[in-house]
Amino acid sequence: MAALLIVIQFLTGIMLRFYYEPFPGLAYDSIVFLQNNVLFGRLIRNIHHWSGVFLVIITFLHLLRTFLTGAYQSPRQVNWIIGLLLLALVIFSNFTGYLLPWDQLAYWAITVSTSILSYIPLIGNSLREFIIAGNEVNADTLLIFYNLHSSVLPILILLLMAYHFWRVRKAGGVKVPNNSDEKKIVPTYPNLVYKEGVVALVLIAVILVFAVFANAPLLELANPNYSLNPTKAPWYFAGIQELLMHFHPFFAGFFIPLIAVVLISYLPFLKYNDEASGKWFHSDKGKKSAIVSSIFALIVTITLVILSEYLINFEMLLPSLPAFISNGLIPFAILVLIVWLFYKVIKKKYNLSLTESVQAIFILIITSFIILTLTGIFFRGVDMALTLPWNL
Ligand code: HEM
Ligand code: HEM
Repeated sequence: MAALLIVIQFLTGIMLRFYYEPFPGLAYDSIVFLQNNVLFGRLIRNIHHWSGVFLVIITFLHLLRTFLTGAYQSPRQVNWIIGLLLLALVIFSNFTGYLLPWDQLAYWAITVSTSILSYIPLIGNSLREFIIAGNEVNADTLLIFYNLHSSVLPILILLLMAYHFWRVRKAGGVKVPNNSDEKKIVPTYPNLVYKEGVVALVLIAVILVFAVFANAPLLELANPNYSLNPTKAPWYFAGIQELLMHFHPFFAGFFIPLIAVVLISYLPFLKYNDEASGKWFHSDKGKKSAIVSSIFALIVTITLVILSEYLINFEMLLPSLPAFISNGLIPFAILVLIVWLFYKVIKKKYNLSLTESVQAIFILIITSFIILTLTGIFFRGVDMALTLPWNL
């Protein structure tokens, strides 16, 4: 599905290029013209928009599938890393595409998400200025994003995808449960080809339904002097933006994402004492602990978000300390403590192996991240205050 969505992005992207003009004075009008005067112009734009959204979700689900069936372990470690790079490229493609319509939504979403970069110590500001080619989003940013979006990134994605598929073959195909019927080999045609054909048709149908009934957003022309309230980052960065509501920016915008990336890249290289079984969740106790993990993450994350919004403000409680400590180090340490205690308890209760413990913690963190993302998208209103979705 991810591969098919990429093909759809390439085809519709090339069509969009026939009309799109990557200059601030022309970009917005070129999209309005495309939508109103070009046969199927709006439909093609909508397909490109929705396939971009689905691509992130499906790539993420694919990551979960490979993780939960243990396909990240030897001999597939390298493919896990290639996959992570592909995910980064997919997100970056969405991100660079986001600016292109040059409307208020695009301008301010890119402004707020690139400003997160300035929280990286020492190099943050220079990095931000390098990426947007100046102090604020401007004509050069648009041209750079356009070129990255419609030539550099697509080429990188194609190359990495070819390598990714080759590595799947080299590992002897996908991971299947050890000693199972699925090990029986059957011809690709018609068994696999038919199933993939059906999945492809259903996916295309779903995207068409979205593209026909829900338009890609287009607000008024970008205005650097008047910001939107709330100014939200693109939806796939809503989790990080939500973290910023609760932690000192050094932790929310830099340290926590950095640790997450390092940990997720390092997963395949741990010394596992039990090879993954290839079954979903590895084993029965793996499955039970995974369920407990996700319920625990659900309750704790929601509780902490509400507490931090309405009740606990470490900066006010500890006014003598610098914000970096009161609103950064201390809540971060509490978080690490919660995860560590949970790990100890669940490991002991279910007598988990390393594969199963890693899985329990991974699910804890992923569930929490999903809830933060949903909170950022659906529960943040004016001034980024917690708001019910129907009052947004
Ligand atoms: C992984 C692949 C791709 C993703 C995820 C992606 C995503 C996006 C997104 C999210 C937008 C903003 C659309 C909106 O207004 O909501 C966009 C716009 C655009 N993309 Fe792509 N794209 C991809 C590949 C391509 C390719 C290969 C091309 C051209 C060769 C292309 C050309 C364009 C153009 C011209 C626009 C501006 C038109 C518009 O905003 O409606 N894209 N893309
Ligand atoms: C554009 C994004 C991606 C595309 C098009 C893609 C495509 C594929 C395909 C077609 C397979 C063959 C088996 C299957 O269908 O599941 C595969 C396997 C695999 N992918 Fe991806 N993938 C992408 C991203 C990722 C990501 C984000 C990860 C994880 C970080 C990942 C990790 C893997 C692994 C470990 C395998 C081997 C699975 C196994 O042997 O069971 N891929 N990928």
